[in-house]
Amino acid sequence: MTAIATLTNHQILLASRPVGLPTRANWRSTTKPVAEPSPGGVLVKTLYLSLDPAMRGWMNEGKSYIAPVEIGAVMRAGGVGKVIASQNPTFAVGDYVNAGLDLQEYCMISQENIKRSGMFKIDARLGLTTWLNVLGMPGMTGFFGLMEVGLPKAGETVVVSGAAGAVGQTVGQIAKLKGCRVVGIAGGQAKCDWVVNELGFDACIDYKNGDVRAGLKAHCPKGVDIYFDNVGGEILDMVLTKITRGARIIICGAISQYNNTTPVKGPANYLSLLVNRARMEGIVVFDYADRYHLGVAEMAGYLKAGTMKSKEDIVQGLENFPETLLKLFNGENFGKLVLQVAAD
Ligand SMILES: NC(=O)c1ccc[n+]([C@@H]2O[C@H](COP(=O)([O-])OP(=O)(O)OC[C@H]3O[C@@H](n4cnc5c(N)ncnc54)[C@H](OP(=O)(O)O)[C@@H]3O)[C@@H](O)[C@H]2O)c1
Repeated sequence: MTAIATLTNHQILLASRPVGLPTRANWRSTTKPVAEPSPGGVLVKTLYLSLDPAMRGWMNEGKSYIAPVEIGAVMRAGGVGKVIASQNPTFAVGDYVNAGLDLQEYCMISQENIKRSGMFKIDARLGLTTWLNVLGMPGMTGFFGLMEVGLPKAGETVVVSGAAGAVGQTVGQIAKLKGCRVVGIAGGQAKCDWVVNELGFDACIDYKNGDVRAGLKAHCPKGVDIYFDNVGGEILDMVLTKITRGARIIICGAISQYNNTTPVKGPANYLSLLVNRARMEGIVVFDYADRYHLGVAEMAGYLKAGTMKSKEDIVQGLENFPETLLKLFNGENFGKLVLQVAAD
């Protein structure tokens, strides 16, 4: 039994809004005592936190699909943790949960906030960090984005950028399972080798050391029917020149643009959409929240059958968050980036 009153909660707060890449100066650490949960509430010990490219957007002021993190607030983060005190009949001490835990060691979730935090129990046997990857928010992004916007048909060619990342690895593996030809785009030979040799992609273009246009020509001889775009920028523009009639382009993210200090440039080749009667559509994963259980069930089935893999890149220590986040923007993460906050 944990003596709650003896615990201290280390937290990381947003101190200022970054211009360009975030630095340590944009963050502040603090500590708070930990209290017993109020009636209906739950106290969760954070084990793993999901580090996401979206965090960069949440640090900005301005209108988006979700409110910005306020200056002085604990940074928003999804995570996996263990219930250590509960006044709620749905969650027992010892349960593993997935929830919006934020950048802190302990998260008090009041009864009113349980729904808003998205908290649900998870099956630890599938791997705790898998619930932040293939079974978690990135996995659901890949699943619903590909299946509901991409509408893949067997035999079609699917190109996915950020191929070795969290969303990318999910998209490519699902597309293969649906009978598509899958071509990844990733930075570096090691990532390209991994998606081909371990995940079964048909090919992967190393955009850091090769010519993407030539790679698309070589590996997509019939053109690109579906492009799942995680990066935006020049790569999106190059893929636009190779799309087929009726192609679907899923705008999932544009990580190449998130730290821009100049306005984002739109794709110059957008008239390819007109010529090819093609469609480009944005998705926000939260729109599918009421059906995550369906996506999770399908993905869990693949994981259990051994037809899907989930690779996470785990870095230890809440205090290492500021530098660890930057791995996403320089491509140092290999798989879903996760911060381990505590041992189970
Ligand atoms: N719409 C939604 O609801 C939703 C939900 C989740 C994620 N997303 C978006 O999905 C994308 C992928 O997210 P994730 O969590 O799966 O991250 P991730 O792919 O695991 O990590 C980010 C990767 O982006 C690549 N990258 C960074 N800078 C780049 C650049 N300038 N050009 C090309 N690639 C670059 C790096 O891989 P390389 O080594 O290959 O360069 C890096 O490892 C992001 O854009 C994210 O914002 C959207």
